[in-house]
Amino acid sequence: MSPTLTEINTLARQAGDILRTSFGQPLRVDHKGVIDLVSEADRRSEHFLLSYIHQHFPADRIIAEESGELAGTGDRVWYIDPLDGTINYVHGLPIYSVSIAYAEQGNLLLGVVYDPMRDECFTAEFGQGAWLNDQPIHPSTTSDLNHALLVTGFPYDIRTNPDSNLDHYVYFALHSQGVRRLGSAALDLCDVACGRFDGFWELRLNPWDVAAGGLIAQEAGVMVTNLAGGDDFISPPQTILAANPHIHPLMLGALKRESGSPIP
Ligand code: IPD
Ligand code: CA
Ligand code: CA
Repeated sequence: MSPTLTEINTLARQAGDILRTSFGQPLRVDHKGVIDLVSEADRRSEHFLLSYIHQHFPADRIIAEESGELAGTGDRVWYIDPLDGTINYVHGLPIYSVSIAYAEQGNLLLGVVYDPMRDECFTAEFGQGAWLNDQPIHPSTTSDLNHALLVTGFPYDIRTNPDSNLDHYVYFALHSQGVRRLGSAALDLCDVACGRFDGFWELRLNPWDVAAGGLIAQEAGVMVTNLAGGDDFISPPQTILAANPHIHPLMLGALKRESGSPIP
């Protein structure tokens, strides 16, 4: 038996309740890198999600941020980010989410991203559409970059890797209506899916960051590719560009131009 969208929706809401209950409380926080954190809340949420999947779908493979890849026997895979937006969360900034995707034979079939602070649940099923709290969602119709509101993020190795996204950020900050950095890639994708943002791009995310949000965006009608314009936005070297169909080619063209070239 495969999971249903309703089942994953309930699961994401329950994990979100775990996060919301601890939000603003003193938490144990460990450092995975200089600016890469993991908190007790990440671990509690992931433990809850993995226990459910192990119990109900024991043969499935799970790729989860804090536990890594957990082998299963079949071609069914779950992508789990138990808390997307950890830095926001530990600072008490209420922008974070739970992200769950389910795939079979390499195809994303179900995706749910839940924002516990706004009680917003974004869901999608392959070929069926995308919804925000059960209402169908669609991207914006903005058609020129000057009027586009964009969102991005920066990788945790920003201090050591020169491919830091700062060059692209500068370009789009000068050629769009504005570029935001909100700190939860899963929510960034959902906000493009429902038209709050016109486009999102980022480098070196992980499958658990983009699997659910990418499917939700695609099902809403957003164009989702890697930064070379190809379909695969999950496999390494991971990059992602999600934008409404008018803005996507404009952003892709700009991203493909040589970094550091003069601004036209
Ligand atoms: C991070 C967020 C952030 C993005 C980072 C991600 P985490 O996930 O999605 O927006 O810029 O690259 O790693 O660590 O909060 O789960
Ligand atoms: Ca994440
Ligand atoms: Ca996370």
